[in-house]
Amino acid sequence: MDFAGQTVIVIGGTSGINRGIAEAFAASGAKLAVASRSQEKVDDTLTALKEAGAAEVVGAAFDVRDPEAVAEGLRQFHEALGDFDVLVSGAAGNFPALTSEMSVNAFKTVVDIDLMGTVHVMKGAYPYLKRPGASIINISAPQAFLPYEGQAHVCAAKAGVDQITRTLSMEWGVEGIRVNSVVPGFIEGTEGARRLAPTENAHEEIKQDVPLGRWGTTQDVANACLFLCSDWASYISGTVLSVDGALYQRGSGKFGQMMGQMLRAQAKEDPK
Ligand code: NAP
Ligand code: COA
Repeated sequence: MDFAGQTVIVIGGTSGINRGIAEAFAASGAKLAVASRSQEKVDDTLTALKEAGAAEVVGAAFDVRDPEAVAEGLRQFHEALGDFDVLVSGAAGNFPALTSEMSVNAFKTVVDIDLMGTVHVMKGAYPYLKRPGASIINISAPQAFLPYEGQAHVCAAKAGVDQITRTLSMEWGVEGIRVNSVVPGFIEGTEGARRLAPTENAHEEIKQDVPLGRWGTTQDVANACLFLCSDWASYISGTVLSVDGALYQRGSGKFGQMMGQMLRAQAKEDPK
């Protein structure tokens, strides 16, 4: 894949899956911009992106829950790197919690980051997208279509993200902009995985539940993003592409209940 000279923006691109995506675009010669809340993580990522081969790099620290800060950050990225060929929106927050046990603000926090954050990123980037030709990827999750106990907040937010993908593929498709979602399955060594499968037992159960018999890698997800943003995918828009080793085909499986059982046992041991 050759993205030499192209401008690639990765929001939430300073760790885990999203950083893997940014590094893959950097290795294919793109100009990169990344953002997240921590300036330290941004700076560290920019160094890694240069080492990976990025033509130019810029970064900014902002919170996707703040629409003005997002719009200003994206304006600065445009000033530095020109029109956006690729936009990846992947900032997210997650923690396991039963709905009966979490505060309204806890639920809202995840909706504000994952769903409203996506809205802020889409709207902030809109003026700067290359027309025709820009490709947007929203990073979704299996929770968008598989119910998992302890994840109602994430299920609601990521389902919304996929519906934004589908709707904008129509609204913005007429301007030559493609919009797709990528759904990582369980990805080894990431913060999301650490939060949802904290024990060796959970790690092993998930491996057994995935038809391909292994956890995914950040490179697996990055490969799908490179493909979707390349000319090979120039007629693909409005899709939700799972990169999950066929996890979805088995439904929520054991994992759908595992987190609920774990949280209920914890609540019994430690009643408030
Ligand atoms: P991660 O390393 O925690 O990545 C999240 C990124 O978003 C970080 O760069 C974080 O940086 C940034 N971020 C978080 N809250 C933010 C906010 N309010 N404003 C701006 N930036 C924010 O997690 P990950 O596990 O790699 O997950 C990455 C994406 O993949 C997420 O969209 C997640 O839902 C999705 N996903 C992950 C898995 C998995 O197995 N890990 C599975 C399915 C889907 P700061 O802390 O500096 O803000
Ligand atoms: N269980 C229940 N509620 C929780 C919780 C948990 N494990 N963690 C946080 N909350 C609640 C807080 O109590 C608070 O609610 P309250 O005001 O009613 O007390 C609310 O959620 C917001 O928490 P806060 O810590 O103030 O939010 P934040 O904006 O600083 O951080 C999070 C956002 C909570 C999502 C944090 O985990 C985060 O920054 N995550 C980013 C990384 C990540 O989640 N990566 C995985 C991606 S898949």
